[in-house]
Amino acid sequence: MMNTKKLSKPAETPLKKVLILGCQGTLGQALVAEFNLPEYIVVGWDRNEADVTSAQIGRRVIAQKPDIIINATGYNAVDKAETDEAEKAKCFQLNSFTPGKLAKASKEIGAIFVNYSSDYVFRGDKIEGYAENDRPDPISVYGQSKWEGEKFVAVVGGKYYVIRPSRLFGPSDKTANAKKSFVDIMVEKKNDGKIKVVNEEEGCPTYSLDLAYFTRLLVEQKKPYGIYHGVNSGSCNWYGWAGEIFKILNKQPKLIPVLASEFPRAAKRPLYSVLLNTKTEPMRSWQEALVAYLSSLA
Ligand SMILES: NC(=O)c1ccc[n+]([C@@H]2O[C@H](COP(=O)([O-])OP(=O)(O)OC[C@H]3O[C@@H](n4cnc5c(N)ncnc54)[C@H](OP(=O)(O)O)[C@@H]3O)[C@@H](O)[C@H]2O)c1
Repeated sequence: MMNTKKLSKPAETPLKKVLILGCQGTLGQALVAEFNLPEYIVVGWDRNEADVTSAQIGRRVIAQKPDIIINATGYNAVDKAETDEAEKAKCFQLNSFTPGKLAKASKEIGAIFVNYSSDYVFRGDKIEGYAENDRPDPISVYGQSKWEGEKFVAVVGGKYYVIRPSRLFGPSDKTANAKKSFVDIMVEKKNDGKIKVVNEEEGCPTYSLDLAYFTRLLVEQKKPYGIYHGVNSGSCNWYGWAGEIFKILNKQPKLIPVLASEFPRAAKRPLYSVLLNTKTEPMRSWQEALVAYLSSLA
C-alpha cells in the first residue's frame, strides 16, 4: 500500500483522502503523482492490496473512509475479450460490474467517484467527432463492457465523474502484465528500416500525466458530475501518430501506410472515434504532450 502524504496542513484545513485503485498502471501511477500534494492523503491499491472484482471490495473501500475514490483499473485486452468466453466474463466483471459496486460504495459514504471509460463506446462513423452526450453504440465486447460500466455508475448516481480517454501513453508500470503503448512500441522500432503502420482509425492520443491533471482539476473545480472526454486536443490516425513520433525523435525509418485489414484483429475498432471535449478547458495538443513524454525518456 502506498501512502504518499507529504506535509501536514493546519488543523482548520482537513486533508482529503484519495483512494486510487490500479495505482501501478499507466494512469494509476500518474494519478498517485498528481495527487501527491500537501492537501491530500493518497492511498494507492493495486492487485496485491485488493482485487477490485472481489465480493468484499465495497466493504474494504468504505473502511478506508476516502473522500475521493478513483478507479484506474480496467480490462484492456480488447481482442481476447472478443473470442474467449472466460476473458469476456473477466472484461464485464472489471469494466462493468466493478465500477457499479465502487459507485455504490462511494455513494454510501458520500465520496466522489471517478471511473474511466473509453472512446470504444462509440460506433466510429461520426467523422466530425463525438460529444459527451452522443449516444454510445459499441461494436466490440470491450466497448460494450465500458458502456455497461457507464450505465451502472449513472444508475447508482451520487457524486461521480466518468471520464473517457483514448489511446493512452506515458510511463507504464514495469510488471509482467504491463501493456506497451503505441508510442513505446514505435520508440522500440526507431532504428528499424521499414515499418508498416495502419493509415486508418482516427482518434485522440491521451498522455497519462495530462489525464491525471485533468482528473484533479475536475474534482477541485467542482465541475458538474457526469461524463467528460479526457483526451489531448487534436486527432490523428496511427500512421500520422507514428510520423510525429519519429519526427520528434529525429529518426527516419521508412513508414509504409497500410489498411487496418493488413493486421487482422478479433475485435472491430471504430474508424473515427475522435472525442470532443465540450465541457472543460481543452488539454494541450497531442503533439505537445508527445514532445513532453519523449523528452522525459531522453
Ligand atoms: N490504455 C488505453 O489506451 C486506454 C484507452 C481508453 C481507456 N482506458 C481506460 O483507462 C483506465 C486506465 O488504463 P491504463 O492503461 O492505465 O490501465 P493499466 O495500465 O492496464 O493499469 C490498470 C491497473 O489496474 C490493475 N488491475 C487490473 N485488474 C485488477 C483487479 N482485478 N484488481 C486490482 N487491480 C487490478 C492492473 O494490474 P495488472 O497489471 O496486474 O493487471 C494495473 O496495475 C482503464 O479503465 C482503461 O480501461 C485505457
